[in-house]
Amino acid sequence: MELRHLRYFVAVAEERNFTRAAQRLNMAQPPLSRQIQQLEEILEVQLFQRDSRPLKLTETGKFFYAHAVQLLAQTSELESMTRRVGNIERSLSVGFVGSTLYGMLPKIIRRFRDENTTVELSLHEMSTMDQIRALKDGRIDVGFGRIRHEDAHIRRVILREEKMIVALPEGHSLSLAKPVLALGDLVNETLIIFPKAPRPSYADQVLSAFEDRGLKPRRIYEVRELQIALGLVAAGEGISVVPSSVYGLKRDDVSYKELDDPTLVSPIIMSMRALDESRDIREMLELIYRLYEEEQIDHAPRNDPER
Ligand code: BEZ
Repeated sequence: MELRHLRYFVAVAEERNFTRAAQRLNMAQPPLSRQIQQLEEILEVQLFQRDSRPLKLTETGKFFYAHAVQLLAQTSELESMTRRVGNIERSLSVGFVGSTLYGMLPKIIRRFRDENTTVELSLHEMSTMDQIRALKDGRIDVGFGRIRHEDAHIRRVILREEKMIVALPEGHSLSLAKPVLALGDLVNETLIIFPKAPRPSYADQVLSAFEDRGLKPRRIYEVRELQIALGLVAAGEGISVVPSSVYGLKRDDVSYKELDDPTLVSPIIMSMRALDESRDIREMLELIYRLYEEEQIDHAPRNDPER
């Protein structure tokens, strides 16, 4: 059995139609049908229920599909990693979720560029889930996100747990009431959460914080991103629970309050391909911990990679 058999099989299984699969593969339909027939002969099993319209997989076909998809993902991972290893000109593509821009990301990038002048660094804003996909097909080499997603092909390092704080319109009664707020103090407000899509996202971490404590905000207002949430807070449309690094954004029309519960945190997670041990990744990680020490930022214990 050859790799091409897997590619052809996965295309037919996903399109559930030989004509569409042949179009997707840029080939004619008869040779595609012959390849699938040949694959079934090699395996001595039937992968498709031929008389079904649209085409359906047999139980054996479903089993084969799950493994074929994994094998193909590993192949493209191997391709991109080998290209990176053999690349004389060093390059590093970094994916990040928008909210990390308010934390250490800008400093990390500037310092990395200063210290690694021959590495071509590129930045791509994308959700944590898109980062996982982009890592697997070699479009990025490192991702900085907030969602704890399990994947055998991805290594995750929890860099730190960032405290959540509350953003309130300047002069709001809660900003004057007490020095520190509890989540329960916020339930009568409109809670502005972000990003609205794709999910899961930081928005779900905030919603879970309420749910876990049996609390339900009076109204939820979902917006595209953090800057819009802050703008709406400033306009008096509601309040928002934001990562504490946003505090650095200081706006005259928004005030920030700490929360009383130390478990109200959002992690900052560095993700990379499980087998990628390249020098650039190691240097990026070293640099991050060095910056944490210099800036005296609390961080998760080192040597704590999650797989
Ligand atoms: C941080 O704020 O700790 C951070 C942000 C982005 C990448 C790495 C670390």
